[in-house]
Amino acid sequence: MERNTIPYWIATTEDTNYPELTDDINVDVGIVGGGLAGITAAHLLKENGFKVAVIEADRISKATTGHTTAKITSQHSLIYDKTIKTFGKEMAQQYADANQHAIKFVRNLVKGNDIQCNFEDKSAYVFTYQDPKYVEKIKKEAEAAASLGISAQFVLETPLPFPVLGAVRFNDQAQFHPIKYALSLAKKIPGEGSHIFEGTRAVDIEEEKTCTIKTNKGKKVTARHVIIASHYPFYDGKGMYFARMYPERSYLLAFKIEEIIPEGMFINVDTPGMTLRSQPHEGGQILLFGGESHKTAHGEQTSTHYENLRKLVRTIFTVKEELYHWSTQDYYTLDEIPYVGKLTSNTPNIYVATGFRKWGMTNAIAAAIIIKDLIIKGESPWQDIYSPQRSTTAKAAGTFITQNADVAVQLVSGKLENPDDHIDLGNGEGKVVEYKGKRTGAYKDRDGKLYLLDITCTHLGCELQWNDAEKSWDCPCHGSRFSYDGSIIEGPALYPLNHPDKGRNQVEPNVLTFKNLS
Ligand code: FES
Repeated sequence: MERNTIPYWIATTEDTNYPELTDDINVDVGIVGGGLAGITAAHLLKENGFKVAVIEADRISKATTGHTTAKITSQHSLIYDKTIKTFGKEMAQQYADANQHAIKFVRNLVKGNDIQCNFEDKSAYVFTYQDPKYVEKIKKEAEAAASLGISAQFVLETPLPFPVLGAVRFNDQAQFHPIKYALSLAKKIPGEGSHIFEGTRAVDIEEEKTCTIKTNKGKKVTARHVIIASHYPFYDGKGMYFARMYPERSYLLAFKIEEIIPEGMFINVDTPGMTLRSQPHEGGQILLFGGESHKTAHGEQTSTHYENLRKLVRTIFTVKEELYHWSTQDYYTLDEIPYVGKLTSNTPNIYVATGFRKWGMTNAIAAAIIIKDLIIKGESPWQDIYSPQRSTTAKAAGTFITQNADVAVQLVSGKLENPDDHIDLGNGEGKVVEYKGKRTGAYKDRDGKLYLLDITCTHLGCELQWNDAEKSWDCPCHGSRFSYDGSIIEGPALYPLNHPDKGRNQVEPNVLTFKNLS
């Protein structure tokens, strides 16, 4: 049976139909990216009298927001003990406050506006079930979180149907349907000089007295302020974000199971990793179960990750039916705290929100509130911990070197391996082959049509890797992804891939077409 690869959240919401940008316009704030951070920032700024324009390359909330586990929690695996040690208690307090505030923000908005988005209060657990070395770390995390005012306890029992060695429980957390929530918020944005544009990709920014956002439609948005909330910043502004972040992929599946789904939201720190929560569905509940994180385009065939999770879930629950499976991509910063604030010290009117790791629900909302405060008041109580210009610690500097070394290896490593010297592919298969003496990406679709591509990433030139589960070419360096036909699935790349005979893509951004505009 062909399984459904659309994320549950997207499959259970109506498609949006906001217009493309067809004229040059002027607003107070241009917001690039229609995910949770961009939509929340637009909502808050419009409430405060600003005219805003959200510019989304695809459809709003379909990208990262539509692929998450949608836990609204300040529990970000084990973060507080480490953050206190790295940054000190005052800075860690900012992170705790920002994320705790984000939970209350969503709760109040949902209740105050009667938003139908399956919002439910839940406890959140981080546990270890087979590795004793994590027990002490989890105890310390509970103490650190409690010292920052979070209602957190170390516990030896959880609602899970198997014993754990220890867990930290955060109380008063929540979960929801992220797209139902975001679309409800988005409805408030258009009108009175504010806009949402879909199918419009921002390709550059020029900052002079005002900022000009150029798009692939050949039309521009001019604005006093710009917020880059495009997951990975599409515009770097010499902020060196490409050297300060790395992408990871992980996998999620939705199942009907025999048992009652444990009450709460769970993630472990030992191996094999798993994350799970319930989701109301057709009068009952389904299980969302995920894990298998790995750096993008590194490691084994991607389809293996789904199979590993299918096996793991069956060791815990009795699966009646698999409904959906999908993957997601997250960006990690060097010290695991997002970059939110001015893009660089030389771009006073351009703001960025990125690097949410796997914890984009509360961090996106916190980011929107921080940037709204920076625009309106010039400061935010949480600006220091999130500042993209914060000083890099010695520990993070070590990671910086490691990550860069990895990127350098990816730039050349693929070029040194010998590709297959003939195109020998079954239908539905892809791999690197030799074509006219050059390493070339090849994919044969179900009908036997062959697609050949120059698989040098159009961002900064790393060699792309075949992703057999999603039928895409993925970049190990900064996470750009391309469909088997060369069109962009996600950036930072702005140019699609070409047939090797045509050479590296040189077309102008304003004549590009992009995929997934359903
Ligand atoms: Fe940066 Fe590919 S080289 S995403």
